[in-house]
Amino acid sequence: MSLKESIDLTKLPQHVAIRMDGNGRWAKERGKNRLFGHTNGVKAVRETAEGCAELGVRYLTLYAFSTENWNRPILEVTGLMDLLLKTIMAEVKTLQKNNIRLRTIGNIDAMPGNTARELRVAMEQTEGNTRMDLILALNYSGKADIVQAVRTIAQDVKDGKVNVGDIQEDLLNGHLYTAGIPDPELMIRTSGEQRISNFLLWQLAYSEFYFTEKFWPDFDKEELYNAILIYQARERRFGKTTEQIKGQ
Ligand code: IPE
Ligand code: IPE
Ligand code: MG
Repeated sequence: MSLKESIDLTKLPQHVAIRMDGNGRWAKERGKNRLFGHTNGVKAVRETAEGCAELGVRYLTLYAFSTENWNRPILEVTGLMDLLLKTIMAEVKTLQKNNIRLRTIGNIDAMPGNTARELRVAMEQTEGNTRMDLILALNYSGKADIVQAVRTIAQDVKDGKVNVGDIQEDLLNGHLYTAGIPDPELMIRTSGEQRISNFLLWQLAYSEFYFTEKFWPDFDKEELYNAILIYQARERRFGKTTEQIKGQ
């Protein structure tokens, strides 16, 4: 049986989140510059999105650019923005054809003007698509996400629209960039690094983590299937005991 056939489609994660990492090291191994790694990372994005959509995963979040990534050498940052712009423009048709909706989380307003504009156009064009949501985390930080939610709620309290007692998990959830999107059941990070690095801090509270040594440009459908199979072999207890879970 192939890896794909071994996946239990009734126990598919609804939401897979991926911290794509290792583009720079992948390029270095080949004696090339970092941007060569990023360009090749786009192929892995295509493969992974296709793989998730084919299986029936409903939400795929890809961490493409963190607020911390602005601190990289300027040429790499402008190269990444350029690549993002070109990729979005080139892929909108494929998204449409495959009924995939493009969304973003993060502060898009602070991205370069042409990139932000093109993103908005692509989001608007794909708004009605229902097969899968492809969510790009751009200029995103998990802490900043929580801060912006808290700020909005504080203003609502000040304006008398919300009582302090109404501040519950659901209310905060509804103010995060991910409002309305279920928390990821599975978070994948490539390149051997085992840290969250300011990804979806709140939303990953009970996610299963899968780490692979593979650099992002080498990530493909087989890798994705493997991650999902490992996820399916885990016992998610949510604080309960094994006996309780088995008895359910
Ligand atoms: C991740 O790969 C890609 C993005 C930042 C978009 P890196 O660029 O972090 O690659 P390494 O970690 O330096 O190998
Ligand atoms: C990879 O993370 C880039 C993104 C997925 C946005 P980094 O390579 O920037 O992460 P750290 O800082 O090394 O943990
Ligand atoms: Mg990295």
